Amino acid sequence: MTIRCIIDTDPGIDDAVAILLALASPAFDILGITTVAGNIGITTTTRNAGRICALMGRPVPVQAGAAGPLARKGFDTAEIHGADGLGGVAFPASATLPGADAVGFLAETLTREPAGSVWVLTLGPLTNIARLVQDHPEAAARIGQVVAMGGAVRDRGNIGPRSEFNMAADPEAADIVLGAGLPMVLIPLDVTRQVRATPDDCAALHAAGTPQAEFSARLIEAYFQSTTVTGPGAESRPLHDPCVMLYALDPGLFGLEAMGLSVDLGPTRDAGALTPDAARPQVQVATSVQGRAAVARLIAGLA
Ligand code: RIB
Ligand code: CA
Repeated sequence: MTIRCIIDTDPGIDDAVAILLALASPAFDILGITTVAGNIGITTTTRNAGRICALMGRPVPVQAGAAGPLARKGFDTAEIHGADGLGGVAFPASATLPGADAVGFLAETLTREPAGSVWVLTLGPLTNIARLVQDHPEAAARIGQVVAMGGAVRDRGNIGPRSEFNMAADPEAADIVLGAGLPMVLIPLDVTRQVRATPDDCAALHAAGTPQAEFSARLIEAYFQSTTVTGPGAESRPLHDPCVMLYALDPGLFGLEAMGLSVDLGPTRDAGALTPDAARPQVQVATSVQGRAAVARLIAGLA
């Protein structure tokens, strides 16, 4: 099955690995990449999207989106993703000029293409998608499926005790999208922390010899340098955003549970935290994954 999709992203080290996997996989027909501020500012995330496509020689349309959250100040995670957002890994210059209307691009594409035929794969804060729902509800209703990396349901957060970065960066946007009744699969930290790359996986990627494998190895090694993990799993790093592409490629790797989710909109570090709520529209939440099989699928897809 061809996955006709738009990727909404804040590249970002793990976003970059996810985008490289999609560009390298014939199953994906990427209609465009829309960018959002998140891991780093919008100028950098947009430039990085173009650089990743340039590495693969693919002139995928890139459209810049929101420079910040709907209603709050965002976070700066340069310490994880580096000042350039790609861990200092040198990519070629972007070969195309980006547009500046991510939401308009999403609305036009969804309106033009047959209803239900386009998936939206989100790897960052949901600001652009929330604006699409608010400003173009009829286009949003034509989305085939949203597959979103974000949240923590039973596992701990990575911003507050219960809040995960993509949801915490723009809680109001998360609340709009999770309340919109869109066909949606949410891939939370509960499963992405089980999809872990080890130094041996990096060696396998280096050995594969393709540009996407080589650069993914360099990105993951930069991740090893920029983050500290203590205790079990210290010798590996979670691959959060690639799980979205892995779900699209092989949903059988994941176990899903249907549940409604409410979003903490309060003033604390737990803003963005998700709580199961039967009164909210149901989304499919990935609550289990075959972790090593998922990493093997990633390496095979990049090789
Ligand atoms: O919490 C993980 C998410 O935050 C990933 O999308 C990563 O890129 C960061 O944006
Ligand atoms: Ca991301």
